[in-house]
Amino acid sequence: MRIEFCGHACFLVSDNGHSLIIDPFLTGNPAASRKPEDVKVETVLLSHGHGDHVGDALSIAKNNDATIIAPYELAVYSEKNGAKVHHMHIGGAHDFPFGRVKLTQAWHGSAVMDGDIPIYTGNPCGFLLTMSGTTVYFAGDTGLFGDMKLIGDRHDIDTAILPIGDNFTMGIDDALYALKLINPKKVIPMHYNTFPVIEVDVNVFANGAKESGYECIILEPGDSTEV
Ligand code: NI
Ligand code: MN
Repeated sequence: MRIEFCGHACFLVSDNGHSLIIDPFLTGNPAASRKPEDVKVETVLLSHGHGDHVGDALSIAKNNDATIIAPYELAVYSEKNGAKVHHMHIGGAHDFPFGRVKLTQAWHGSAVMDGDIPIYTGNPCGFLLTMSGTTVYFAGDTGLFGDMKLIGDRHDIDTAILPIGDNFTMGIDDALYALKLINPKKVIPMHYNTFPVIEVDVNVFANGAKESGYECIILEPGDSTEV
């Protein structure tokens, strides 16, 4: 599975001729490494309704005739706005042509803002994504929670993608604790340094992860890695 970081919490994933994008916030993202019109995917995964995640999802889905996979309420919102969707919810898994997706809980909020009026889009989520036998846990925007241990115990996770930017999500200390609960082979940090309020020193996280025995892959926007 090839993972390309497109900035903030956006990842382009490809495997065995299939490609999908997670949380495609590109327009207005100061860290974006791609333009939405250059994204060619068959699937869009959306973790929650915040603008720094939904981003260009609707236009990418329509331009590519791609399916948006999201928690039920966010899928309904996307469908109402003209996208093809597959509704899911937390704890449920489904086998797609490209692989298996399971939704996990995330401690956060979820609403699309219509001006200053929030349109409620259900619970936020994370994703367990399995393609060709490799499992990636994309935690989404979340605080630390004890059931990350359950997620780690129940799934053999090759790579965890964790937010570390603090303020809206886990910061470095909690993300390092999360690693011990999830017990992946590798970790990729996300959701940091895009804006001043989530600026952190990613090397502090990388060193802490290494000290605990986890391989940390720091991706700059545009970088990719094989997991
Ligand atoms: Ni958010
Ligand atoms: Mn966010």
